[in-house]
Amino acid sequence: MKITYYGHSALLVESSEAAVIIDPFLSGNPKSGISPEDIKVDAVLLTHGHSDHLGDAIEISKNNNCPIFAVYELAEYCQIKGAQVKHMNIGGAHTYSGITVKYTQAFHSSSIQEGDTWIYTGQPAGILLTLGGKTLYHAGDTALFGDLRLIGERNAIDISALPIGDMLTMGPDDALLAARWLRAEKVIPLHYNTFPAIAQDGADFCDRLRQEGIEGFPLLPGESIEV
Ligand code: NI
Ligand code: MN
Repeated sequence: MKITYYGHSALLVESSEAAVIIDPFLSGNPKSGISPEDIKVDAVLLTHGHSDHLGDAIEISKNNNCPIFAVYELAEYCQIKGAQVKHMNIGGAHTYSGITVKYTQAFHSSSIQEGDTWIYTGQPAGILLTLGGKTLYHAGDTALFGDLRLIGERNAIDISALPIGDMLTMGPDDALLAARWLRAEKVIPLHYNTFPAIAQDGADFCDRLRQEGIEGFPLLPGESIEV
């Protein structure tokens, strides 16, 4: 499994069989380093509806003639906008074209603003993605919660991607405990340094992980790792 970071919470995940992108906030993020037209994937996975996660999902789905996986209400929203979708909900798994996705709990909110109207888009989620025999856990936007232990206990996770930005999600202290509870061996920090309110030191977070025997990867946009 090859994982490429495109800033904020966006990860491109590829194997020899398939490619998917999670939370493709690209054109709206000056730090992403890539345009949505350059994304070639077999599926788009969304953790929740906030604009810094939905991003260019609909355009990428249309360009690639591929589905968007999302929690039911968000999937309906994307379908109304003309995308193909897979309706998911918390606790459910689905395999499509060699891509296995399971939606897990996240403690956050999920909504889209259109003009002066807020559309609520169901529960926010984390995602377990199994591709090419490896499993990635993308926590989405979440607070620390006790059932991260359950997720770690029930799944053989090869690599976890956890928010560390604080203010809108877990900060580094809580993410460190999350990594421990998940029994993580490898962690990619997400959702930081996109704007000043969520400034964090990714390298310092990864040093703290190392002290717990966990490998951390403070990827810069465009950087990849192979797991
Ligand atoms: Ni959010
Ligand atoms: Mn967010």
